[in-house]
Amino acid sequence: MRTNYCGLINEQYLGQTVTLQGWAHRRRDHGGVIFIDLRDREGIVQVVVDPDTPDAFATADGSRSEYVLEIKGIVRARPEGTTNSKMISGQIEVLAKDIIILNKAETPPFQIDDENLSENVRLTNRVIDLRRPTMQRNLRLRYQVALLVRNFLDTKGFIDIETPMLTRSTPEGARDYLVPSRVHDGQFFALPQSPQLFKQLLMVAGFDRYYQITKCFRDEDLRADRQPEFTQIDIETSFLNEEEIMSITEEMARHVFKEAINVDLGEFPRMAYDDAMFYYGSDKPDLRVDLKFTELTDLMKTEEFKVFRGAADMDGGRVVGLRVPGGAVMSRKDIDDYTKFVGIYGAKGLAYIKVEDVSNITNGEDSGLKAPIVKFLSVEALKTIIERTGAQNGDIIFFGADKRKIVDEAIGALRIKIGHERGEAGGYFTKSWKPLWVVDFPMFEYDEDGKRWNACHHPFTSPKAEHLELLKTSPGECKARAYDMVLNGWEMGGGSVRIHQADVQSTVFDALGIGEEEAQNKFGFLLDNLKFGAPPHGGLAFGLDRLVTLMTGAESIRDVIAFPKTQRAQCLLTNAPNAVDEKQLRELHIKLRNPPVIE
Ligand code: AMO
Ligand code: AMP
Repeated sequence: MRTNYCGLINEQYLGQTVTLQGWAHRRRDHGGVIFIDLRDREGIVQVVVDPDTPDAFATADGSRSEYVLEIKGIVRARPEGTTNSKMISGQIEVLAKDIIILNKAETPPFQIDDENLSENVRLTNRVIDLRRPTMQRNLRLRYQVALLVRNFLDTKGFIDIETPMLTRSTPEGARDYLVPSRVHDGQFFALPQSPQLFKQLLMVAGFDRYYQITKCFRDEDLRADRQPEFTQIDIETSFLNEEEIMSITEEMARHVFKEAINVDLGEFPRMAYDDAMFYYGSDKPDLRVDLKFTELTDLMKTEEFKVFRGAADMDGGRVVGLRVPGGAVMSRKDIDDYTKFVGIYGAKGLAYIKVEDVSNITNGEDSGLKAPIVKFLSVEALKTIIERTGAQNGDIIFFGADKRKIVDEAIGALRIKIGHERGEAGGYFTKSWKPLWVVDFPMFEYDEDGKRWNACHHPFTSPKAEHLELLKTSPGECKARAYDMVLNGWEMGGGSVRIHQADVQSTVFDALGIGEEEAQNKFGFLLDNLKFGAPPHGGLAFGLDRLVTLMTGAESIRDVIAFPKTQRAQCLLTNAPNAVDEKQLRELHIKLRNPPVIE
């Protein structure tokens, strides 16, 4: 029987006989002595097999990478000069007496400690990939975080209640994953985009404090921080206002970071949504990067330069500057690369000015400002640009001029890219934790294509009491009782105080262009129940995957999910989604428009 985990054997066990079970991580033949690094979930221990034990030696000799072995041996000190202070077992080794092969293994598709594998190779061979110490650590941290969350919420009186997976569509802004009903011809369940409506109904039912760590499903375009199925830490409370909800959830985030990775997040500053967009072009600003936008739209309304003037005069246009301290050293190629980069976000170019001498601001050849565009701008405008940006000699100022959305996204992304690439050296990036709350969100955003208002958070979010009237007259100015928790440029969680009065909910549906009949049809179960004494309530949901990703420093949330989907929403391990046979489709009353070609 196993007596110890490999990775946990230390000097305390010197002289003891131990029995270990694990995988042969690496086997080295050192002229007559065989070394096996034996690995289990706790780590690696070095096993030495010498020819004095001929049976064990022969078995070790026949073992290969990833064979599953049982090894009995004596713990002894490693010879001087061969110790490894980075490992718990780094001072000792196990001198093998007996070795049993519990199972053989084919040659694995890659070395377990190879950190340079493509995502495709990793996800296709996920089981082997999960053996890697980094993945083992990530998933254990994930478990610890979930446990800390449960214990924290338990002490605050929250109870875990499960909500259905087979349900109706919950509008969180993405497409639904649908499940056909066999029993009801032509009808479909939707997998929940979140438990939003059920948790509100649990408040109406009187449970007062609910939480759940649960899967959500969203059929949306995937990125590094998004998966089609992901996990929320979903929270709802009755009778608390936004301050109280933010206070509990902030305390929880602080507690979890402290206990799980010993990081003090400190107090979270607040930033109004309008300020976040004004200074950072993003509602989830990465405050580690100390660069801000400078607003120039007003200034460019009287300039001749077409690129800037056009955007300034455009309905919903914006012109901003981004000052980068010390950036004048950037080469032509650097600037060309950044220009290509902002192109990804739809920017048509990237104007810039290199600041050589602020005491000599003209638009002539000998100007202290160097750039092709300087000659197109008035001296007054150039002076104002320098004044507003606070630019010093040696700086560069980049410019974005276009529709607001393009400028915000392009220059916002540039701000982060430059901050991360050059900021540490330039003194405008700090490697630390920068949480904040973004508050005062608008209720609605206008969808240019659909010519309609959409809910910024979701349609069950309460407007600010003083903005109720605006719902009907100017929805665009109506602010919501919503809040997002942001950390290092990632939205970790979002929530709001909900509408608990059926008539206000109807008005909001109205503003969203959802008629009475449609509202009753889709959300009748909510509207009806709001009429039976719904308490004031609100909550928040954290993205567990994102939280853990940030803690591990991983690049993608795929690294903290055991079996994630690819960027194209596929599981390469099981090859899902897959075609199903005709019989199954028939039972579900489904006829395919484009049957897959079976090769
Ligand atoms: P929201 O849509 O903001 O709010 O989601 C809450 C949090 O869930 C995480 N998240 C995701 N994580 C990974 N992949 C995704 N595709 C994905 N989408 C969202 C984010 C986000 O902050 N019902 C509301 C919450 C509420 O109002 O209480 C909701 O779902 O970290
Ligand atoms: P053009 O007049 O198109 O040659 O552009 C003059 C300068 O303005 C070049 O440096 C372009 O990269 C830059 N530019 C063009 N369009 C934009 C834009 N929408 N925003 C910022 N800079 C731009």
